Amino acid sequence: MRLCTIDCGLLIQTADLLFFIFIRLKSVDFTINLLKCVTPNSVVRLTFAVNILSRQNIEIMKPHIGLSEKDLLGITKLLSVVLADSVTLYTKTRKFHWNVSGESFMELHKLFEHQYKKLEEAIDEVAERINKLGNDTIGTMREFSDLSTIKEHPGQYPSSKEMIHELLADHESVIVSLRKFVDDCTDHYKDAGTADFLTGLMQSHETIAWTLRRYLK
Ligand SMILES: [Fe+2]
Repeated sequence: MRLCTIDCGLLIQTADLLFFIFIRLKSVDFTINLLKCVTPNSVVRLTFAVNILSRQNIEIMKPHIGLSEKDLLGITKLLSVVLADSVTLYTKTRKFHWNVSGESFMELHKLFEHQYKKLEEAIDEVAERINKLGNDTIGTMREFSDLSTIKEHPGQYPSSKEMIHELLADHESVIVSLRKFVDDCTDHYKDAGTADFLTGLMQSHETIAWTLRRYLK
């Protein structure tokens, strides 16, 4: 029984070795002929076939859009920061929507609602862009909190004017980050698609910042 287990292990190693040769030479015909010469064993052939199929599956799942895997990962890291900032800013705007009070209560309550809905749309678009680039999207509060550059203030309930000041500062900080990321995507990664996407996002933050600024006049 033990001998049989060892034999199977060796056969699978043989299949893996042949698969390695196939990957290096990128020739199916050559590798199949080698396979026939080396062994007629079905375990080897089956393991080799499984390797080929799973490799092909991985290749199909990868986006072939003229960007290297390394660059796609770099762009994903940058988009993950944008995502984390958007989630934090969304949460803060929602907190202010719930807690705003004073003479302009209804006005600001509605304004903040409109703004967190815009941020919610942006969150989804950023997350899906990461997927479009072939990578998994972060999605836990801990990951968002670790990556976000937006500061939170638990237990604090600022006045309505302070809320506007704080949100304005946060949106302006996001705009500064986005401007840098647009340059990174254009100059370093040569990814016009993400640069364009982030430019649109930056304009949306500029509109929100402009609206908030008007309340401070
Ligand atoms: Fe509400």
